This record gives sequence, structure tokens and C-alpha cells, in this order.
Amino acid sequence: MKHSLKTLLLAGAMVAMALPAFAQDKLGFLVKQPEEPWFQTEWTFAEKAGKDLGVEIIKIGVPDGEKTLAAIDTLAAAGAKGFVICTPDTKLGPAIVRAAKAHDLKVVTVDDQFVDANGKPLEDVPLVMMAAKEIGERQGHELWKEMQKRGWKVEDTAVMAITAEELETARLRTSGSIEALESEGFPKDKIYKTPTKSNDIPGALDAGNSLLVQHPEVKNWLIVGMNDNTVLGGVRATESIGIAPENVIGIGINGVDAVNELSKAKPTGFLGSLLPSPDVHGYSTTKMLYEWVKDGKEPPKFTAVTDVVLITRDNFKEELAKKGL
Ligand code: GLA
Repeated sequence: MKHSLKTLLLAGAMVAMALPAFAQDKLGFLVKQPEEPWFQTEWTFAEKAGKDLGVEIIKIGVPDGEKTLAAIDTLAAAGAKGFVICTPDTKLGPAIVRAAKAHDLKVVTVDDQFVDANGKPLEDVPLVMMAAKEIGERQGHELWKEMQKRGWKVEDTAVMAITAEELETARLRTSGSIEALESEGFPKDKIYKTPTKSNDIPGALDAGNSLLVQHPEVKNWLIVGMNDNTVLGGVRATESIGIAPENVIGIGINGVDAVNELSKAKPTGFLGSLLPSPDVHGYSTTKMLYEWVKDGKEPPKFTAVTDVVLITRDNFKEELAKKGL
């Protein structure tokens, strides 16, 4: 009896010791553009998941390949068991997988899928991303709808499509948008593509400017781009040559990156944005990774997040609040 009480006490003490150690488990969350509210939102919800699960989330911005590999070393040194990543360059995929394996870290990708040197997707690495094609199509249909509402004639209108073809999710979104516009009857030969060097406002502004100088004849512009910042760059380009906001319709993707623009005192050519679920991306990837590390439950190879809502100056506060953003 005495002995079993001792065993019991010992077992109790072991559990008590195990609990705080477990509570200190660590997971990484690495993102390519930490300055973008999209990624800040993912981080916020990753931390929420971390809190709910009792794990510490180590957040690191990884704007390039060197910083990415250094971050993986940092995570390993800190004793993390795995990480979620939106890579700065999808072609880094094989190197990231190699580094993770070397440190025995599990990897879940978010937003941008890894590819090999030939551009072939690394389908073995679990991925959570928005339903890019569908969301792009919605952008095209919404642009068309607004154009009808404003009574613009096709003859007076052209599309500025700011592209980033090397990033698959971007290619899917802009091609979806262009196909939707064509299916509504927008003439193919007035959809002008202009590639951006970087997926931010300055890159897209340059891309927009170089297109606009070639088409002084166009009165009204529809702006297609893979996210809010690319569309905002296009809108800034129209402003820089004095095109009035009434003659421009831009609809972005991400929503959270459009808050400043939609809060401006006067409307601009940026009509609104399609808001997907950065909260779900951040929370669910973290939870998947945790369950994988903790219970060996492998995440699905692919999870597409489909919900999307159009936010404009009229409803953005409510819609963001609904998601707790
Ligand atoms: C890419 C873009 C981000 C955001 C995410 C969403 O990573 O660069 O701005 O749109 O996709 O999946």
C-alpha cells in the first residue's frame, strides 16, 4: 500500500513535470512579406492557435532564400518541431525540404506552393491556399458588373492585367479573372497584360505606368491583379497620369491589405477587394502542424480555402469584424 502510494505520487510528479515541458513546445511560422497585413493576419491567428494549443509560435520574416535557410537553422536551434511557411520564392521548395529534413522538422506550406527546378509542384508537402482560379474569376465578374453599372461602353474601355506568371497562385488568379471577363463578352484584344517585377505597390506601379504610356487612347480602365497591392499599384499609375477615379475600376484580392485605401475620405479608382480567410490560413495550418508533430496525424496534401466576400467602402468594417479582423 505504502509502495503504491509512492508510485502514484511519483507518477503524479512526472505528469506535472511533463506538462510545463509540453507547454513550451515550439513551432515556426515563416512568411515572405511580413509587412503585408495579409501575413500579419496569418501570424495573429497562428498565435491564437498557439495559445489554444499551448505552443509557442516563433514568427520570422523571410524575404529571401538566405534568410529562409537561416530561419530554419534558428528554429532548429530553438528546439522547434516544425514550421509553416509562405516561401519568398517557390523554387526554394527543394532546398527548404532538405533543410527541414536535416533538422527533423515538419513543414506545412501556406499560400504559395513549392515547385522544383523545372517548375513542377512538390505535391507531397501539405499546402493550404485560397481557391485561386475561382477567386480570380470572381474578380473578373465583379469588374464586369461594376462596368455595366457605370454604363461604360466596351469601345472606351480596356483591361490592365498586372501579371506575375512565375507564381502559380498569381497566374491562376489573373487568368481566372481574364477568362471571366472574356466570358462576359469583353474583347480579348483589349485585355493588356503587363508583368510586375515584384508583388508590391512600387512594382505594380511601374508595370501600370509602362502600359499606360502605350495606350493614351483608352478612356476607362479595369484593373486586374493577383492581390490588393498589385491592383493598388495599377490604380496609383492611373492617378499619376491624371485619369479620374470615375474612369477606373480596380478590385483587389486579400481584403486586409485594402483597409487603408477603403478608409480614405474620398473614393479612389479602387472599388473594393475580395476578402478570403487569412484567419483560417493562419489558424488551421498551425493546428495541422501541431497535430502532425504531436500525434503523428499527417495533414491533407491540399486544402483549398474557398469563402470569399467582396468588401467595399460601404461594408468593409462589418465584414472584417465578422471574421474578428
Ligand atoms: C500570395 C500573395 C499574398 C496573398 C496570398 C494568399 O502569397 O503574395 O498577397 O494573396 O498569396 O494566398
